[in-house]
Amino acid sequence: MADNNKNIIMFPFMAQGHIIPFLALSLQLEQKGYNITFINTPLNIANLRRVLPPTSTVRLLEVPFNSSDHGLPPNCENTDSLPPYRIYDLLVASTSLKPAFRNILAGMVSAGAPPLCVVADFFFGWSAAVTHEFGIFHVIFSGSGGFGLACYFSSWINLPHKNSVSGEFTLPDFPEAGKMQVTQLTPSLVVATGDDPWSKFQKQNLPAWQNSDGFLFNTIEELDKVGLSYFRRKFGLPVWAIGPINLSAHGGAQTGKNSRTETETCLQFLNSKPPSSVLYISFGSQNTITANQMMQLAKALDTSKKNFIWVVRPPLGCDINTEFRAEEWLPENFKKQIEEENRGLIVEKWAPQVEILSHESVGAFMSHCGWNSVLESLSRGVPLLGWPMAAEQFYNSKMMVEIAGVCVEVARGVDFEVRSEDLRVTIEEVMSENGKGKEMRKKALEIKKMIEEATRSEEGFKGSSVEAMDEFLQAPLLMKNTTTIHR
Ligand SMILES: *[C@@H]1O[C@H](CO)[C@@H](O)[C@H](O)[C@H]1NC(C)=O
Ligand SMILES: *[C@@H]1O[C@H](CO)[C@@H](O)[C@H](O)[C@H]1NC(C)=O
Ligand SMILES: *[C@@H]1O[C@H](CO)[C@@H](O)[C@H](O)[C@H]1NC(C)=O
Repeated sequence: MADNNKNIIMFPFMAQGHIIPFLALSLQLEQKGYNITFINTPLNIANLRRVLPPTSTVRLLEVPFNSSDHGLPPNCENTDSLPPYRIYDLLVASTSLKPAFRNILAGMVSAGAPPLCVVADFFFGWSAAVTHEFGIFHVIFSGSGGFGLACYFSSWINLPHKNSVSGEFTLPDFPEAGKMQVTQLTPSLVVATGDDPWSKFQKQNLPAWQNSDGFLFNTIEELDKVGLSYFRRKFGLPVWAIGPINLSAHGGAQTGKNSRTETETCLQFLNSKPPSSVLYISFGSQNTITANQMMQLAKALDTSKKNFIWVVRPPLGCDINTEFRAEEWLPENFKKQIEEENRGLIVEKWAPQVEILSHESVGAFMSHCGWNSVLESLSRGVPLLGWPMAAEQFYNSKMMVEIAGVCVEVARGVDFEVRSEDLRVTIEEVMSENGKGKEMRKKALEIKKMIEEATRSEEGFKGSSVEAMDEFLQAPLLMKNTTTIHR
């Protein structure tokens, strides 16, 4: 039975960390011949217009939203423009998009062109029931990995830390995750009692995932089985691991004016170094460390004598947009000396991460363990030094240490007391040619091969991620063929 409906709706929450993977997935589906409608609020759509490749046919569609109507500052439609304690307000405000979202679907249905499926954010649990009012297939897409989201989900529905005196606990419905510590919870979870505003939001949102028809994860089956199994068991719904989604595929969302020279400087530096001899350090675009932590890290780099590229931002508490003051925030003469010795490169704010990780001179990556960074590192066989800071990064780091065996955690968040001597020892351990360093590099290379296999597609062979994508795209057609009644 031919079905030519190739329209897919994409609907992410208003945060860069959500919009970017949704956009990358949109472009991947577009390449497969699908017709994408990408829904978001006006200012986010305006920003997307600037980064969408000019040849793309992805249709950007605004839903009306005015932040002032929700007690938010004017023109705040993205978590990027809000301090962390206001993110909750944007989440609550996002539930007001429900009627507009319903209108969009109703319009398509009455025009005789219902979409094949809706791909929505995990913060938009409510969208599943609305989509089903029209008998349309609905999936939740997570840019995070399975393990990380499973720990997050389980922590919110169980609040297991509430009864822990020692600060240590296990997740009652996810014991495979092992021992957890209160220091691995985000601030909103630490204070969650079940009656606080965040808990109330999650009590509505998380169970509503059950109304969906399945889950898409930006991960690979072979690496993330434990986390993916949690969702299969919990919801009894299909879970498709379709990653890694190519985040470089959309034009330069983060490439600034100086990115060309920055890239050349980094590559020149790397070209002058032996294989696996450079430590790359970056805590992502949203995070920074404290002034003291920065000082300790610099001292560790100084005494270890390892080569490095360090993407720096002003320390916590300083305006993130001010110039980086090396004389003040780094040890005296540190920058001058490492530059003279051509031993290290201090890069402000942005570095060409994928190019750096792809270079054979890079031996390890000190990272906040945001899922995109983890995938970028593993795709190139680079082991990690974990320094998780927020959200599900703590669980990503845990997974990389305990399940994948490619990471040593060096610190946790900004309250962690970092000592330069400990850092030096760990850096040397991971960068060493023997022992633990060698073992981790070997495992990282195995995972790199695993990822290549998962995404490989040729005559007579389909990797697991390719297969999962095909199955997902078939699923709405199967649903239509087996049910005649709208649910
Ligand atoms: C894509 O979807 C839009 C909006 O529904 C529609 O106007 C257009 O004809 C579709 N294109 C294809 C190739 O299906
Ligand atoms: C949003 O609402 C405020 C207050 O009602 C109004 O002043 C402002 O013009 C609105 N903004 C837009 C873009 O419509
Ligand atoms: C990702 O996309 C970029 C830009 O289009 C391309 O150069 C690169 O080869 C792609 N990577 C993979 C792994 O397909």
